[in-house]
Amino acid sequence: MKDVFGGGVVTGLSSTVVVIAALLLGCQEAATHRADHDSMADPLAVAKAVPGTLHVVDERGTRNLTLSEILPKFTPRIVVTLDPYYQSTKRFVAVPLGELLKEFWPGLDNEPHAEIEFAAADGYKVRLSAKLAQSPPAFIALRDVDHPPFEPISDRKADPSPLYLFWEGKEWTNLETHPRPWGIVTISKVHSGQGLQHVTPPHGFGADGCAEAGFRLFSAQCQRCHAINGEGGRLGPDLNVPRNILEYRSEPDVRAYIKDPATFRYGNMPAHPLLTTEHLDQLVCYLREMGRHKFDPRQPAAKTEKGS
Ligand code: HEC
Repeated sequence: MKDVFGGGVVTGLSSTVVVIAALLLGCQEAATHRADHDSMADPLAVAKAVPGTLHVVDERGTRNLTLSEILPKFTPRIVVTLDPYYQSTKRFVAVPLGELLKEFWPGLDNEPHAEIEFAAADGYKVRLSAKLAQSPPAFIALRDVDHPPFEPISDRKADPSPLYLFWEGKEWTNLETHPRPWGIVTISKVHSGQGLQHVTPPHGFGADGCAEAGFRLFSAQCQRCHAINGEGGRLGPDLNVPRNILEYRSEPDVRAYIKDPATFRYGNMPAHPLLTTEHLDQLVCYLREMGRHKFDPRQPAAKTEKGS
């Protein structure tokens, strides 16, 4: 906890933060206490029991590692986080992501342009800079201490297992800067230039620029919740596959929905009152363009277009 709350990350350590730190520490003690009576909360035992395989991918190829063999090496422990998906404080048996990455790629610190990509079994992908992925608050959860193995996430009832990336402490709750990919089965090291592969057209945007401007808006404001072609967030639906949103909703409805979803239904999508007509033009232009460049990670053979 020192690293998160006292390690210079927070400038001007306020009394609130100290109280929160004390609360979190209190939680951790309680957790250790309970662990004595419950062998399944013993972090080492948990790590040895995680089923499945982790695929580790880099320029040299793919390594398939048995989770129950590799995880116990990384000092599994109980870590507390304020979790925006669960909207509460959660305790996970977890291993530090930085240690895991160092084991896979010992020279990672000397690769300033490296990025780490986390992929789930259904093809969803999220990227982090190697630096952020190795920062002290980044952890990989193996199990929920209070709701083993994992409590389903949000209304979507998503299952975070086998591995869930989260950030220790109270302050890293912004999913845009600190995403929390779940269901991780593959960890890849990629070059930052590579970008996500399928969120832009394979041969770039057209000359008029509206789709490209829309893409920039989408990356900044929508991608953390929505995927395009399976790449991006998962709180909201993928807006391109299997059907592009503009193939089954009218353009006026899509525009109105993006601005104020509550006029359609009471769901989990925030309103975007600040988007102007021009912004909406650009978002629609991008979505329409991507409708012509579908890639469905669930059916890669059937849907991959030529040249992508
Ligand atoms: C905090 C997460 C979040 C953000 C940010 C977000 N959305 Fe959504 N969006 C959702 C969820 C969740 C739904 C599913 C509907 C619901 O829960 O009511 C949704 C639904 C939609 C739909 C309707 C899909 C349908 O079935 O009709 C569209 C279109 C959409 N979002 C576009 C966008 C765009 C464009 C942006 C960025 C400007 C955006 N969303 C930002 C979470 C989000």
